[in-house]
Amino acid sequence: MKFFVDTANLEQIKEANDLGILDGVTTNPSLMAKEGIKGKEAVLAHYKNICAIVDGDVSAEVIATDTEGMIKEGEELAALHKNIVVKVPMTQAGIKAIKHFSDKGIRTNCTLVFSAGQAILAAKAGATYLSPFVGRVDDISWDGITLIEQIVHIYSTYGFQTEVLAASIRNPMHIIQCAEIGADVVTCPLNAILALLNHPLTDIGLAKFLADHKKVNG
Ligand code: E4P
Repeated sequence: MKFFVDTANLEQIKEANDLGILDGVTTNPSLMAKEGIKGKEAVLAHYKNICAIVDGDVSAEVIATDTEGMIKEGEELAALHKNIVVKVPMTQAGIKAIKHFSDKGIRTNCTLVFSAGQAILAAKAGATYLSPFVGRVDDISWDGITLIEQIVHIYSTYGFQTEVLAASIRNPMHIIQCAEIGADVVTCPLNAILALLNHPLTDIGLAKFLADHKKVNG
């Protein structure tokens, strides 16, 4: 399972990358706004900065809502760096743009996915990645993990090449559950990745080892 970090914060991206287990980065317009990145030039420069830190796929989202605009924007984003994946929303215009990008060999991440039906359309259009939003489904009292499981099952039944990128991950249990059901990728905030490190028995065991070592070695 690939690990992506879900942020546009360069410090957090560096910290995640320094762990040595990072496979990529996802951003979205909200995450870019959170970092105060405004204006086209600043946005493009920020994506280049992220690509300079991480040797892995970096999702950059289009803002246009019409197919023509998405294609223009997406082609510009894809030209920035070989690792850029064009993130396109799950709409009728978005599906047409994904098909265009797929035919041209430009990789895509179909975002804002909340149903298996949407997942089938994105795979048929040739999306490289599909981003179902686990946390936001949970937020409305449905089951985000079950949605991932359903999509993984459908994709494997038909041999779709689209990778299931579980997004809107909120905690370490989401990551473990995605691993159990065969998600190809999880994109998570850095704190959810770091939370996987924690176990009280590790802390207790390490303290005891160090104390015993000190008894003998001073
Ligand atoms: C990433 O691709 C998504 O945009 C992101 O995971 C959404 O997460 P959120 O629901 O926590 O905003």
